[in-house]
Amino acid sequence: MCGIVGYIGNKKATPVLIDGLLCLEYRGYDSAGIATIEKDSIKVMKDKGRVNNLYNLDGINDLQGTVGIAHTRWATHGKPSKENSHPHMDNSKNFAVVHNGIIENYSDLRDFLSKSGYTFYSETDTEVIPNLIHYYYTNGPVSVLEDKRERFLGAVKSAVFDLKGSYAIEAISPLCPDEIIVVRKDSPLVIGKGNGENFIASDIPAILSHTKDFYLLDDNEFAVVTKDDVRFYDNGLVEHNKSIKNIEWDANAAGKDGYEDYMLKEIYEQPTAIRETIGSRFKLGEKCSFDDIEITKEYLSTVNKIYFVACGTAWHAGLVGKALMEKLCKIPTEVDIASEFRYRNPLIDEHTLCIYISQSGETADTIAALKLAKSHGAKTLAISNVIGSSITREADYSIYTHAGPEIAVASTKAYTSQVALIAILAMYFAETLETTSEAEIEALKSDLIDLPSKIDQILANTDEIKDFAKKVYTEKDMFFLGRGTDYNVALEGSLKLKEISYIHSEAYAAGELKHGPIALVENGVTVIGIITNPHLVEKTISNIQEVITRGAKTLVITNQILPNGHFDYIINIPETNPLISPILSVIPMQLISYYISKFKGLDVDKPRNLAKSVTVE
Ligand code: G6P
Repeated sequence: MCGIVGYIGNKKATPVLIDGLLCLEYRGYDSAGIATIEKDSIKVMKDKGRVNNLYNLDGINDLQGTVGIAHTRWATHGKPSKENSHPHMDNSKNFAVVHNGIIENYSDLRDFLSKSGYTFYSETDTEVIPNLIHYYYTNGPVSVLEDKRERFLGAVKSAVFDLKGSYAIEAISPLCPDEIIVVRKDSPLVIGKGNGENFIASDIPAILSHTKDFYLLDDNEFAVVTKDDVRFYDNGLVEHNKSIKNIEWDANAAGKDGYEDYMLKEIYEQPTAIRETIGSRFKLGEKCSFDDIEITKEYLSTVNKIYFVACGTAWHAGLVGKALMEKLCKIPTEVDIASEFRYRNPLIDEHTLCIYISQSGETADTIAALKLAKSHGAKTLAISNVIGSSITREADYSIYTHAGPEIAVASTKAYTSQVALIAILAMYFAETLETTSEAEIEALKSDLIDLPSKIDQILANTDEIKDFAKKVYTEKDMFFLGRGTDYNVALEGSLKLKEISYIHSEAYAAGELKHGPIALVENGVTVIGIITNPHLVEKTISNIQEVITRGAKTLVITNQILPNGHFDYIINIPETNPLISPILSVIPMQLISYYISKFKGLDVDKPRNLAKSVTVE
């Protein structure tokens, strides 16, 4: 969470910084600020509220500096306020810092600095960092260095050595006005290489309009960024070379492209995202293959348990993954929430394959859960949408969804691409292990290939969905029901509704409702049922009947022919294999939440209290 941008070059830094922050607002939007070097001093402008507010700050257009750092905040320590906004400066006003992450020992450091005469003006953990830099710049071995640049870098290094927790940090100083120092640990940071200018950001989309050449900073790696050069240092400050990665994402892909909101655009991008994710990984009549990994039959035959571990929407993709792995590969599979997995001593050893799903590849709990499995000798496989993201750098194997940048906080195309990719992975394993007949796998491949055009069919006519949203947008509670993968996708539908429409909702396995939650169903409550598995039609209808009897209004999303007159609304979707039907049935649910949010006049892309990339525990 929190977004960081930096610029150094010949242009005025402010517009580049604010543009970058606007692209990163999905990482947090409590407050925003920038700091530029103006002649021989640092000028900080910041306030609570959205990035756009920066344009209203007095004097923002007068900033001339060509070196600057910027931040959009998701508050952890201290409420959203001007004082708590970044950048933060040290007492001497010689060092300004922006920071993403959490400094766990900030209170000890604050005590130490206070005793050394420093004063604090905010409630944040971050404010210790510029003051520590100042402390080391003026005290101890670094302070005697004659070269100011060496001294500045040495002071940043010494300060960072005192920090416990996670951080991506940018530091500037008028004492060394031609450089920005950056360092990261467990929080993302990339450096974009320009011509006579360089860019820094938490995520690639923020600076994609300026360059496609990126350095992906590693944990505990320092970089000194000047306008013509980037120098990299390990944590002993030994300099090393680093190669550039060319990122193929199209800059327009990170814009709204005529859509009212990113979420709507991303919903409509799902056919392309799935086509790209399938790519050349399989063709009809040919076995699945992954360029990026080779998992041998010898190894797979030793695997006696698979774990999917993830957070939020990615966890819901893992639930569908369980059905796919167990059905096609006959390997017992568990699905864990990353924040639970890491603290529950899971039974893992070298016979366990742990698969981590993360759109951003930066979710703190998912990364920690991956490190845990590695330390128990399990092999780890990462599924991410971001090339070079932290999770992919930690895992033994990494494969990518090719959904393109997902900006809206509520995940849509990442989810459907994750399910598609897991289906391909399960087929690849099943072909390697020969656990499912060729005919069955061929049929599933054909169903996968047909998905993009079937999504197009759903998206071609959304009037019924919009009408339904209009009828229910003032409601307070809703329920989602399904069995099997329909239940898995019901959880995702319910999460979407909570995230962007602020309507309380619950998703239940249809057969479980009568064990308690049915007590909440009363006259007029809306229940959304999903029915896509021909073997479960009657059972699910009976469960929906139970809520109809208690006065519920019902909407059913189905690809089956259902008896007439039972339900208030029916949305028909195309038929497909129930193992991958969530890719189709989720689309009407994404749109229902989207339209409800619009009817309520909410900010669809930036729902309250949420952030896209959760880099804190
Ligand atoms: C946040 C986002 C969710 C996302 C989850 C996991 O909570 O708001 O949309 O599903 O993080 O993110 P990841 O990047 O690990 O998939």
